[in-house]
This record gives sequence, C-alpha cells and structure tokens, in this order.
Amino acid sequence: ISPSQLSPSVLASDFGQLTAECKRMIDGGATYLHMDVMDGHFVDNITMGPPVLASVSKAIPGIFMDCHMMVAKPEKWVNAVADAGGSLYCFHIEATDDPLPIIASIHARNMKAGVAISPDTPSTAITDEIGHAADMLLVMTVYPGRGGQKFLDRCVPKVAELRARFPEKDIEVDGGVGPSTVHACAHAGSNVIVAGTAIFNAADPNQVIAQLTATVNE
Ligand code: DX5
Ligand code: ZN
Repeated sequence: ISPSQLSPSVLASDFGQLTAECKRMIDGGATYLHMDVMDGHFVDNITMGPPVLASVSKAIPGIFMDCHMMVAKPEKWVNAVADAGGSLYCFHIEATDDPLPIIASIHARNMKAGVAISPDTPSTAITDEIGHAADMLLVMTVYPGRGGQKFLDRCVPKVAELRARFPEKDIEVDGGVGPSTVHACAHAGSNVIVAGTAIFNAADPNQVIAQLTATVNE
C-alpha cells in the first residue's frame, strides 16, 4: 500500500488551460493527476486520449498520471498510454472477460495496474487472483461518464470489503467525493481519493486539496 494520495480529476478543469490547471493542482499539494479517458463506447461521453496525456506529461515532467480508462477495449490502449507517459492504467472489469493478461501487459510497460468496478458491480467481481495481480482497485461512487454527480453511499461498503480482502493494495474512490463524503471513504479503507468538481469549483481549490489530504491521512 502506498501512502495516501489525492488525485484531482482534471475532467472538471478548463481544458483550454489544461497543463496550467494540472500544474495548479500539483502546486496546491496534489500528488497524482486523475486523467479520465472516455471513448464514447464504454460510456456515453468522449473526453481525452493519449495525445492529451502526452502533452501533460511533457509539460510536467515526472508527474504521476493516474489514467482511468473508461474504454470498451482496455487491452487496446496500454501501449499508447505508456508511450504518453501514463503511470497507472486503470481499466474496468466490466469491459473485459480476460483481465489478467491486460494486467500483465500493463506491468510489462512499467505502469501500475488498476481495476475499476462501477456502482452495480459487486466487489466479488474482483477475484482473489485479480486483486493480487493488480496494484490498485477503484471503487466508483458514481456511474462513470461525467463529473459532478452525487456520491452513491451504497458503494462505500465495497471499499471496506476490498480493504479486508486486500490489505496491502491501494484502494481508490472516484465520483462525488468532496469534503462531506471523503471521511466515509477514508474510514472504509480508501487511500487514493479522486475529486473533480469539489476541487475545481471551489472558491479556494488549495484549501479543498489540503482538507481532503488531511482527512485521508488521519
Ligand atoms: C466519472 C469520472 C470521475 C469524475 C469525478 O466518470 O471517472 O473521475 O470526473 O468528478 P467528480 O469528483 O466531480 O464526481
Ligand atoms: Zn475517473
């Protein structure tokens, strides 16, 4: 398990100033950047792809890019994301029947491997084999597809279930997380916190970054 990380979702930022927005998050104390890649197939939205990731990694050398791949064919983009400077490649278990070879291909490109579960997917979809092969498990607390949705409390028990089964793994939460919902996530055992609109829509984003970081480190 890594130390706790705060991973701002730059989906909520002004894409016209994307690299400046990313730098602002790091200067404000964030340790990861959460990059939401959507392909219009796995979810009904299109966001950014490997060329945009490459621009960010070029602008901020050494940045840890936490790439959340909401794509229908997760095996297809591993090399492109690695070439673009991705640090962690997190794909959805719902998008594949064969996750273990994808995890191996991610590791072969020296990225960390994450496996995500959407709100209607039980924690048992992460088998012992998958959980042990992965570096990070992502529990979605909204339906993937867009930012700014309401946090689904009913997903929190899955964090605790996975924490009990995989004490040594990183567990990320994503969707609707902010000052009022972060405590439940951290208490259930999450150590990697994603927040988009809670940070970018705040009057003082640095204050929200500090507050979320403090809660998850408690
Ligand atoms: C949803 C994305 C999230 C989203 C989070 O599909 O995976 O990362 O951008 O945004 P907030 O924090 O606003 O729910
Ligand atoms: Zn995400």
